Amino acid sequence: MKKVMLVFGTRPEAIKMCPLVNELKKRSTFQTIVLVTAQHREMLDQVLDFFRIVPEYDLDIMKDRQTLFDITIEILNSIRIVLEKERPDVVLIHGDTTTAFAVSVACFYLKIPIGHIEAGLRTYDIYAPFPEEFNREVISIISRYYFAPTFLCRDNLLREGRNEKNIFVTGNTIVDSMKYTVRSEYIHPELEWVGDSKLIFITAHRRESIGEPMHCMFRAIRRVLEKHPDCKAIYPIHRNPLVRSIAEEEFRGCGNIHIVEPMDVVDCHNFESRSYLCLTDSGGVQEECPSFGVPVLVMRDTTERIEGIRAGALKLVGTDEERIYKEFSFLLENDSEYKRMHKASNPYGDGNACERIADILEGKKVLPWECFEK
Ligand code: UD1
Ligand code: UDP
Repeated sequence: MKKVMLVFGTRPEAIKMCPLVNELKKRSTFQTIVLVTAQHREMLDQVLDFFRIVPEYDLDIMKDRQTLFDITIEILNSIRIVLEKERPDVVLIHGDTTTAFAVSVACFYLKIPIGHIEAGLRTYDIYAPFPEEFNREVISIISRYYFAPTFLCRDNLLREGRNEKNIFVTGNTIVDSMKYTVRSEYIHPELEWVGDSKLIFITAHRRESIGEPMHCMFRAIRRVLEKHPDCKAIYPIHRNPLVRSIAEEEFRGCGNIHIVEPMDVVDCHNFESRSYLCLTDSGGVQEECPSFGVPVLVMRDTTERIEGIRAGALKLVGTDEERIYKEFSFLLENDSEYKRMHKASNPYGDGNACERIADILEGKKVLPWECFEK
């Protein structure tokens, strides 16, 4: 029996790893162990509760206003003893957080093989997103198995000299996750407030945006909302206190936005599915909204989700106030542009990524996810 340890620590990692935990647990070929670093606490627990996963290990490292040093040091200090005790055959990590980075370093020091889920995303700008681009590039140097969501990610890994035999195009597990969450009969009091208005869905949290860029993003959004009383915005805010203080300052007194606490994943996906359009700097939201035909304005200077841009579902609008103001207004006021983005299809997966990853770990030959045209 193969001993597989899955390690994650933040909300988006959990949303994308929990369906895989459940897939592996179904199979008697694996001994499945879950370790959470709890780089996030409440936002992680919301997801664990929904998927009914009780981790075998919880490092419980989160601190208020934690720095990258805090997260890295805490994880390296506390995970060693667990890895030495359990000696898994493979450790599965996800994406590009500091949890994924620190765990990959720990596994490297102990020569434990790593399987990297969501491998190969790149902007090739080491400071954007910060520190995620660095994290994922480093993880790729250390990994044994690469579970790439798309062929484009696979191409990045090949260009960087990774062994073709170890790269598997599986689709993104986020699409698997949405099979659990999206409901046609969903209701919520905030949706009643929105009524027949256009629902604008907003999220923002990136470290490199905190400060002036985030002020600019919010000022632009407010100006457009005030010009468009037919729109109602819902903004589930991140728990980061730095984000909260900027949002409070910029949106105070604005009547057509509701800032709500972080949503659980069911609420979040169902709100996305009912949105008219979305403004975000989130990675995961860029992958989810195209499934619902919801156009996404990406408030960042770069994106690693190039497939969504090519498909026409995402548009990169930067963090400049005038640019966001213009692009957001344009999409609300230009019907043919809206329709063009609305009809783009999701290039990220077919909802069977977890099954493929489990099959690959069992040593089976698996065809790549082929919906994405090279
Ligand atoms: C982290 C990841 C980022 C990912 C994001 C998803 C790193 C460096 N960053 O950024 O890649 O996109 O998660 O949301 O790995 N907090 C709480 N409760 C929570 C979660 C956060 O209070 O459940 C507060 C704490 O004060 C914490 C702060 O938010 O110090 C920031 O959390 P942190 O994980 O350091 O950064 P994120 O911006 O969430
Ligand atoms: N999400 C959520 N509740 C919220 C906001 C986001 O469940 O209030 C989900 C969202 O559906 C997506 C993931 O969290 O699956 C994205 O997380 P985040 O934006 O924090 O991180 P990123 O994807 O940028 O790393």
